[in-house]
Amino acid sequence: MRNQLQVSQSLTKWIIEQRRHLHQYPELSHQEKITREYIKQCLNDLNYETTSYTGKDVIAELHGATNQGPILAIRADMDALEITEDTNLPFSSKHPGFMHACGHDGHMAIVLGVAKLLSENREQLFGTVRFIFQHAEETVPGGAEQIVEAGGLDDVSAILGCHLWEPLEKGKVGFREGPLMAGADRFEVNIQGKGGHGSMPHLTIDPVLVSTHAIQQLYSIVSRQINPHQPAVLSIGELKMGTSYNVIPDKAFFTGTVRYFDPDIQDFFKETIKTILDGVCKSFQASYEWNYQVGEPPLLNEQHLTAFVKKQATLFLPENQIVEAEQSLGGEDFAHYTNKANACYFFIGIGEKGNTYGHHHPKFDIDETMLPIGTKILAQSAINYLSNQK
Ligand code: NI
Repeated sequence: MRNQLQVSQSLTKWIIEQRRHLHQYPELSHQEKITREYIKQCLNDLNYETTSYTGKDVIAELHGATNQGPILAIRADMDALEITEDTNLPFSSKHPGFMHACGHDGHMAIVLGVAKLLSENREQLFGTVRFIFQHAEETVPGGAEQIVEAGGLDDVSAILGCHLWEPLEKGKVGFREGPLMAGADRFEVNIQGKGGHGSMPHLTIDPVLVSTHAIQQLYSIVSRQINPHQPAVLSIGELKMGTSYNVIPDKAFFTGTVRYFDPDIQDFFKETIKTILDGVCKSFQASYEWNYQVGEPPLLNEQHLTAFVKKQATLFLPENQIVEAEQSLGGEDFAHYTNKANACYFFIGIGEKGNTYGHHHPKFDIDETMLPIGTKILAQSAINYLSNQK
């Protein structure tokens, strides 16, 4: 094992400054223009050349002392959300209606910190570190998928990423081998009935009744048909029908999401949603159209790499601060990378029960003291991983 990296006070200060700057200029997925330019400038100032796979991401590479060896990638996401910030922070969003409410500002700062720290310790590096500042994590199709399609992971042997994580207690870092975050798909349903007067329901085919029956049955898939030991979720988030209290509408529309870890569950959802729609519509003489859109796959942490990165964390944190991460049914497009290279994605705790707000909340904030910890774990993992491959 090589020397243990140190994050100096001045580097910590620099990382926090980057986070505060980026926090003020949130941009939506696929529109991260100001962010991209800032990241490029930052990297150029650190003597990196930048490129891009899609025109929306920013890529930089650090080559170690020898020009051989594998490539390890480190990814940060860059996009923000359509949320009006309500934190009263002195460095609050300067883009009204938009906010870094998920922590991606922190992820960029952590990885910029890694780029700075490793460039100062290049003599310890064997092989190449590829920094991926990725656009559009929050949407489908997302940036990860596009970068993979453009070949960004073709020559990469391992990839690391992390998320500042409010459900995990501040100070702790969470790792988990195998599935960590769920596959997340979406479906849309249009029910066609026959409208009419509210006083004469027998002359109509009421899509209100058909939809509510269908939704009741869809909700029974998880509770009655899937093994309770298998994590799975089906939620309807949108339901639209009707315009007036005494008119039975013609049609109804609803849309929902399913979450799963096991691809067999995904298949089961697809088949069973269709079976229910067929049966319910037939029983009311209604008809329907639907579509099922496959979204993020499950995020799978490779066992050995995850154990390795976890071990690097023990160099900086007491053993009891390193915990088994709880699986999340949230989707994360880092999952696309985990299908292409050995991957480790971990959680950095920033939560304090009762005192912090969750991700995507207008009062969401991160604990900046955790930023240099992320930088250390990623940078140390890069150095030790690459020298192990020598
Ligand atoms: Ni996020």
